[in-house]
Amino acid sequence: MRSTSLARSSIGKAVFIVLAVGGGALVVGFLYASGSADSSEQDIQPVAFSHKLHAGQLEVSCLFCHRYATISRVASVPSMQLCMGCHQNLKEDTSETKKLRVYWEQETPIQWVRLQRLPDFVYFTHEMHLHHGMECIHCHGRVEDMPHTPRAATFEMGWCLSCHRREGGSLDCLTCHH
Ligand code: HEC
Ligand code: HEC
Ligand code: HEC
Ligand code: HEC
Ligand code: HEC
Repeated sequence: MRSTSLARSSIGKAVFIVLAVGGGALVVGFLYASGSADSSEQDIQPVAFSHKLHAGQLEVSCLFCHRYATISRVASVPSMQLCMGCHQNLKEDTSETKKLRVYWEQETPIQWVRLQRLPDFVYFTHEMHLHHGMECIHCHGRVEDMPHTPRAATFEMGWCLSCHRREGGSLDCLTCHH
C-alpha cells in the first residue's frame, strides 16, 4: 500500500536518511490560505510543487508529508522544515527551489492555496475513513501522477453518499450535517 510506505526508490532512501537524522526538528503546520475552487487556477500556487515528482518519481509517502491524516480530521500540509530537510542538501537549484530558499531564509511559511474545500456545514474526518481501511487514492485519485494540485473528486454530497451506500457508511443526514 503506497500510502504507508516511506521512500522506496534508491533516491528516496538516500534522501530519507538525511531526514531521519534531522527528524527531531520536523514540525508540521497547517499552512493554508483560502482559495477558490475554480479549475482554471491549477497553477496559482506560490511555489510550483509537484506531487508527480515527490510522490511519484521520488516515492515519498503521502503520510510522510500529510502526517495528520490518520490521527485527525485534517490531513495537513507540511511545514518548511520538512521540505528543507531534503532541499537544504540538494546541490542544484531551479528557479522554483530558489523561491523555497527565500521563504526559508525569511522564515515565512508558504501560503498554499487550498483548491478544494467542503462547505462549513459538512462534517468530514480523515481519521475515521483511513481507519476503515481506505486509501488516499479512493478519494483523491492517482495523486502521484499529478503535476499540479490534486483535484480528482467532486466532493459533492452524491459522491459521499454513493460510497457510503456501497461501503456501508451511514446515510443519516446528521452523520455529515450536525
Ligand atoms: C513532499 C511532500 C508531499 C507529499 C509526499 C505528498 N504531498 Fe500532498 N501536498 C503537499 C503540499 C506542499 C501541498 C500544498 C500544495 C499543493 O496543493 O500542490 C499538498 C496538497 C495536497 C492536497 C490538497 C489539494 C487541495 O485541495 O488544495 C491533497 C489532496 C494531497 N496533497 C494529497 C496527497 C496524496 C494523496 C499524496 C500521496 C500520493 C501526497 N499528497 C503526497 C505535499 C506533499
Ligand atoms: C524526500 C526529499 C524531499 C522532500 C521532503 C521535498 N522535496 Fe522537493 N525535491 C526533492 C528532489 C530530489 C527534487 C529534484 C531536484 C532537482 O530536480 O534538482 C525536488 C524538487 C523540488 C522543486 C523543483 C521543481 C522544479 O522542477 O523546479 C520544488 C519547487 C520542490 N521540490 C518543492 C518542495 C516543497 C515545497 C517541499 C515541502 C512541501 C518539498 N519539495 C519537499 C526532494 C524533496
Ligand atoms: C474518504 C475520502 C478520503 C480519503 C480516503 C482521503 N481523503 Fe483527503 N480529503 C477528502 C476530502 C472530502 C477533503 C476535503 C476536506 C475538507 O474540505 O474539510 C480532503 C482534503 C485533503 C487535504 C487538504 C485538507 C487537509 O485535510 O489538510 C489533504 C492534504 C488530503 N486530503 C490528503 C489526503 C491523504 C494524504 C490521504 C491518504 C492518507 C487522504 N487525503 C485520504 C477525502 C478523503
Ligand atoms: C470511498 C468511500 C467513501 C467516501 C467517498 C466517503 N466516505 Fe464517509 N465513510 C465511508 C465509510 C465506509 C464509513 C464508515 C466507517 C466506519 O464506520 O468505520 C464512513 C464514515 C463517515 C463518517 C462517520 C465518521 C464518524 O466520525 O462518525 C462521516 C462523518 C463521513 N463518512 C463523512 C463523509 C463525507 C462528508 C464524505 C464526502 C465529502 C464522505 N464521507 C465520503 C466511506 C466513504
Ligand atoms: C455522507 C455525507 C452526507 C450525508 C449522509 C448527507 N449529506 Fe448533505 N451534503 C454533503 C456534502 C459533502 C454537501 C456539500 C456539497 C454539495 O453541496 O453537494 C452536502 C450538502 C447538502 C445540502 C446543501 C445543498 C446545496 O446545494 O447547498 C443540503 C440541503 C443537504 N446536504 C441535505 C442533506 C439531507 C437532508 C441529508 C439526509 C437525507 C443529507 N444531506 C445527508 C454530505 C452529506
